[in-house]
Amino acid sequence: MLVNAKEMLDKAKAGNYAVGQFNINNLEWTKAVLLTAEEEKAPVILGVSEGAGKYMTGFDTVAAMVKAMDKSLGITVPVALHLDHGTYDGAKKCIEAGFTSIMFDGSSLPIEENIAKTKELVALAHKNGMSIEAEVGAIGGEEDGVIGMGECADPQECKKVADLGIDFLAAGIGNIHGVYPDNWKGLQFDVLAEIQKLTGTMPLVLHGGTGIPDDQIKKAIELGVSKINVNTECQLVFAAATREYIEAGKDKQGKGFDPRKLLLPGTEAIKAKVKEKIELFGSNGKA
Ligand code: 13P
Repeated sequence: MLVNAKEMLDKAKAGNYAVGQFNINNLEWTKAVLLTAEEEKAPVILGVSEGAGKYMTGFDTVAAMVKAMDKSLGITVPVALHLDHGTYDGAKKCIEAGFTSIMFDGSSLPIEENIAKTKELVALAHKNGMSIEAEVGAIGGEEDGVIGMGECADPQECKKVADLGIDFLAAGIGNIHGVYPDNWKGLQFDVLAEIQKLTGTMPLVLHGGTGIPDDQIKKAIELGVSKINVNTECQLVFAAATREYIEAGKDKQGKGFDPRKLLLPGTEAIKAKVKEKIELFGSNGKA
């Protein structure tokens, strides 16, 4: 069932758990995430970055594939199709393509411009029945070629953006995309607590879910995080399982080269990773 992400995240905030956003890259990814969410009876968010959208030949293709697959697989749990780190133009394209949720990432803009554009997109998204996420304080690491330094958001700016009528807020608290370096200082919980104090019932979003130790994930949820984004970790397990299959020479046995066989271990590895995360976030059984 394709829905916007507001209700599932409001429930998560009230129930002290988090909904996973798993980024999708192709058919196998989408199928793996949908099937696992259904098995776990968990609400789920499919994240699509602009780069991944382009790779899949455009947002129209993605929306058509997700809607059709949701129906053909008989998925009953709430599923949101969400633009991840959208530009202003990308957000508008996803509204037209039939996504159910968008993120506008104006974190690299001066705060006044971020506010003006977010406000405009809030009106547009809500008019179309969609939920909208905004970002304050750039998330570090690399995503689609954009490199941030993992800054911490200014809690007062978070309050200003939260007051624009957005549905959930991504705030930098020292988190970064991709694998964390050995000298990473960990999440800045004092900043998170301050943001939570000022933004009240607003569901907060933790980007860069890959590699954050479980105890820090749990503490972040206690402090008001209701949506956690995971991308790189699924890519890593997919690659490792595919490598193992090929290195064992299985693609050369019988029809092991058939893509339906070749891509199966990677797909199963994504399913196992998504299950592990859903259970860690506590969203299993919450659909
Ligand atoms: P990771 O790739 O670090 O899991 O981050 C995902 C993310 O935050 C997508 O927006």
